[in-house]
Amino acid sequence: MALSDFDLVLFGGGGDLSMRKLIPALYARHRAGDLPPSAQIICVGRHPWTDKEFVEELNQNARPNISEKTFTQEAWNAFCACVRYVSLDATDAATYDPLIDLLRHDQDMTRVFYLAMSPSLFASICKNLHQRGLVTDSSRVVLEKPLGRDLASAKQINLEVGKVFKESQIFRIDHYLGKEAVQNLLALRFGNVLFEPLWRREWISDVQITIAEELGVGNRMGYYETSGALRDMLQNHLLQLLCITAMEPPLSVTPDAVRDEKLKVLHSLKPFTPTTLARNVVRGQYRAGHVEGKPVPAYRAENSANPDSTTETFVAVKAEIDTWRWAGVPFYLRTGKRMADQLAEIVVRFKSIPHSIFAQSNSSFQPNCLVIRLQPDDGLQLNLMAKTPGDGMRLKPVELELDFAETFKTPRMDAYERLLLDVLRGHLTLFMRADELEAAWEWVEPILRHWEQEGNEPIPYTSGSWGPAAASALIGRDGLQWREEA
Ligand code: BG6
Repeated sequence: MALSDFDLVLFGGGGDLSMRKLIPALYARHRAGDLPPSAQIICVGRHPWTDKEFVEELNQNARPNISEKTFTQEAWNAFCACVRYVSLDATDAATYDPLIDLLRHDQDMTRVFYLAMSPSLFASICKNLHQRGLVTDSSRVVLEKPLGRDLASAKQINLEVGKVFKESQIFRIDHYLGKEAVQNLLALRFGNVLFEPLWRREWISDVQITIAEELGVGNRMGYYETSGALRDMLQNHLLQLLCITAMEPPLSVTPDAVRDEKLKVLHSLKPFTPTTLARNVVRGQYRAGHVEGKPVPAYRAENSANPDSTTETFVAVKAEIDTWRWAGVPFYLRTGKRMADQLAEIVVRFKSIPHSIFAQSNSSFQPNCLVIRLQPDDGLQLNLMAKTPGDGMRLKPVELELDFAETFKTPRMDAYERLLLDVLRGHLTLFMRADELEAAWEWVEPILRHWEQEGNEPIPYTSGSWGPAAASALIGRDGLQWREEA
C-alpha cells in the first residue's frame, strides 16, 4: 500500500537511536521507493546545526550503520535531500517557531512526532505540541521505550500523553514486535493446524525465552545506569515475546483483537510472592572476561561507569501463567549483556512420549522441541526422533531446519523499517496499548521493590559466559537446563 505524503518530526534526531536505527531504516525505505517524493524528515535537537552541518553528522554517525550492500551514494544523497534539521529546546514551546515554519499546515497530511528522547520529556513535549497548535487529527506520536521507570511513572506518561493524543494516535514502540520471526510466530501458530492442538499444558513441558547479547553497554552508560536489564529488556521485549507465544488465538490481526489477547496473558501472570521473588528471579552483573576471544572489561570498569554500580546487566525469571491452557508450565525468561553468544530465541519443549515401544538401550530419547530463532538469522528448528538407517531399530534425535532468508530469498526488512512503515500507515497492531504497558509494569514492579528493599548486589558473572550459576540453578531446580547448557 503506497504511503501518503507526510512530515515526520524526529525529536532526538541527532541522538544515538536516530543515528543507529531510525535514519538507516528511513534510508532503506526511501531507497526501496516506499516514501513519497515530497515527504519531509525533520530532525529536531538542541544543537545549533544548519541543514548542511546536520547532513555531515549523518555522514559521520548514521552512514556507518547502513550496510554496504544497500548503500549507494546516489540513494544516500537523494535521502539526505528529504532531511531537514531544526534546533529548538523541546521543553520550551516558545522555541518551536522554526519547526512550525517547516511543517506543512494541511490538516489531512500525516504528521508524525517520533519522541526518541528520555521518557521524562514525553509529557512536556506533548503539552508544547498542543500549546503551539501542532496536533491535528492526522497526527501521531511515537513513544520510544523505556516508557517510564515503574508503574506510577508509566501511568503518568499515559495520562499526560493521553491529554493531547487519542489512544488511536499513540504508537508505543517495542522493536521486537517488528522482527520477522515474531510475526512468523503468529503465522506458525495461527496459519497452521499442526501446532495449536499441542500448544498447551497437556503437551508442553516448558518454554524458554532468551535474548543474549555479546555486546556490553557501549556508550550508553548514562542511560543504562538508570535502567538495568529488567527495565531495558524484561519489562518490554521479553514480556512481549511471552505474550505472543502464550496468547489465545485473537479473532483477527486487528490492533485491539491482538492487544486484548496479550493483555489477558499479562493479567494472568502469577504475581510474585516473597518466596517466589527470592527463588524465581536472578540478577547478575558482568565482570571482566573474554567475548569472541577478546578481553573485555567488567561493567564497573566500562567508560564512565560507577565503580560501585549495582545495576544488573543480566536477569532471569521463572514466570507462570494462571490459565487452563498454561497452568503448571514454567516460562523461563532471561536476558544479559556480554553473554557467550549473540542470540534471541523462543524454545518450546514438548513432553516426553508417554510410553516407549522401543528398546531404551538402543535409543537416546529426547523430547520434541521447537526453536523459534529471532537472531542472528530468523528461522525454525524442530527436533524430532528418527530411526537411524540400517539393521535394527535405533532412534536418534534429528533436526528439521527452516531458514527464512534461504526459503524466501526476498530482501529482509529491519524491525524499525517495518514499524516505521506501520506508523506512517497508521497500523497499530504491533504497538503496545496503554493498559498493556501498565500491566507489564505491574507484574515486574515487585521485583524492583524487592531489589531496592534487599539492597543486595547483583551476582557477578564472567563476560562470555551464560550468566550467573544461579540462573542455571533456577531452571535446574525443576530438573531442566537452558538449551545452550544442555
Ligand atoms: C534495546 C535495548 O531495546 O534492545 C538495548 O535498549 C539492546 O540495550 C537492544 O541492546 C537489543 O535489540 P536487538 O534488536 O539488537 O536484539
